[in-house]
Amino acid sequence: MTDTLRIALAGLGTVGAGVIRLLNENGALIAGRAGRPIEVVAVSARDRAKDRGVDLSGYAWEDDMTAFAARDDVDVVVELVGGSDGPALALARKALGGGKGFVTANKAMVAHHGLELASLAESSGTPLRYEAAVAGGIPAIKGLGEGAAANRVERIYGILNGTCNYVLSEMESTGRDFGDVLAEAQSLGYAEADPTFDIEGVDAAHKLSILAALAFGTKLDFDAVDVSGISRIRAADIAQARALGYVIRLLGLADCAADESGRHLFQRVAPYLVPADHPLAGVTGPTNAVVGEGNFVGRLLFEGAGAGDGPTASAVVADLIDIARGNSQPPFSLPVSALEESAPADPGGRLSRAYIRMMVADRPGVLAEITAAMRDAGVSIESLIQQGQREEDGKPVLVAMVTHDGPEAGVTKALALLEGSSNLAEEPLVMRLLG
Ligand code: NAP
Ligand code: HSE
Repeated sequence: MTDTLRIALAGLGTVGAGVIRLLNENGALIAGRAGRPIEVVAVSARDRAKDRGVDLSGYAWEDDMTAFAARDDVDVVVELVGGSDGPALALARKALGGGKGFVTANKAMVAHHGLELASLAESSGTPLRYEAAVAGGIPAIKGLGEGAAANRVERIYGILNGTCNYVLSEMESTGRDFGDVLAEAQSLGYAEADPTFDIEGVDAAHKLSILAALAFGTKLDFDAVDVSGISRIRAADIAQARALGYVIRLLGLADCAADESGRHLFQRVAPYLVPADHPLAGVTGPTNAVVGEGNFVGRLLFEGAGAGDGPTASAVVADLIDIARGNSQPPFSLPVSALEESAPADPGGRLSRAYIRMMVADRPGVLAEITAAMRDAGVSIESLIQQGQREEDGKPVLVAMVTHDGPEAGVTKALALLEGSSNLAEEPLVMRLLG
């Protein structure tokens, strides 16, 4: 390695162009803090002719980004392309296998292949860093993996997707339409290439599974995350939540318990009703928040921009500075061989209050059928409202209820009893109340 840390950058979109701007604008400050300059030597993307608002004339261009792995003038490869497999994964394998450092913002790839890549990094003795993959500009990986490294972390939760938080908080404050606000989030550079990953909770699930492995010392288990998104939330749900003193936020939550049969990992991404006076209720726009609870440090709350070019570039360059300084720690805070197996926890016994919204036919006997199902499943209803009234065109009306605290299995059973009912116009929406 020469004195300068020489990097090759794959992907010149929102984040890639942001990294070049940041290195150009803060180059002297970054070199001072890193102890040596950090310079881009080569770049790659799909379209060489595209104007990206940054000057690329001083960098070598590679049509095939995997060629970075064979370049002698590159110390670290930075992957800002995206996608769990495909060219990003091919690049990661080649770079790490060939002894190059590797920095990525790609949570999909880390969630699916993080253990394989961490093993490659370990055997090559080269750094793998992914701060930007979780919660954009927030140093959550550093905070949990290093700052809280002395703790047994018992629970993590938070707002892990900027696009969803932007959509929900804009709908809440302006009454605007879902599709309209989502298009705006896309134009602001917050959304994934496929925005269904954002709104269906998959992106947050990628991040949650990474945080869980890091915080609990368990093997990554993305497939075990229980995921639901925000696409079915209506303005009426937001209004009902507000009337009850809540706001709706897409949350990721994980905890890990142990008994004689081993470790049981609970991982869920879902929209929750959050009390209006809870710190997470005040997190609006593309902001993310990550809470970790350690057995000595107590509750840590990290909050900041969760998406966008500047904040994400800031996290990527922080990783580069760490590498330039020669800091080395295992990618998941423990060697891969020390990460423990866990089984998915059964959520049925967890106690919570639930908001249940149904779109139903407005005719006699409907509420009786619903309340009978709740009774038969042992679910106690705290409040119930029916909105709207019978209309000549037979449109369904909204029924929303909040349950008392009870095991999640009760609500699951009640909904199973109602399945196929001719009174239900669509599948009920269930959101749990936080706290
Ligand atoms: P983006 O704007 O869509 O940029 C993707 C870049 O990758 C583009 O430059 C594109 O080339 C290039 N690319 C895509 N497919 C390629 C292929 N098959 N071969 C070569 N180049 C290819 O995406 P982004 O928002 O910057 O996100 C990049 C990564 O950062 C993703 O993993 C994302 O999840 C992650 N991330 C994004 C944010 C955010 O706020 N945007 C935050 C945190 C993490 P062209 O430009 O030539 O098409
Ligand atoms: N699409 C992601 C989000 C980008 O909206 O949070 C940051 O990871």
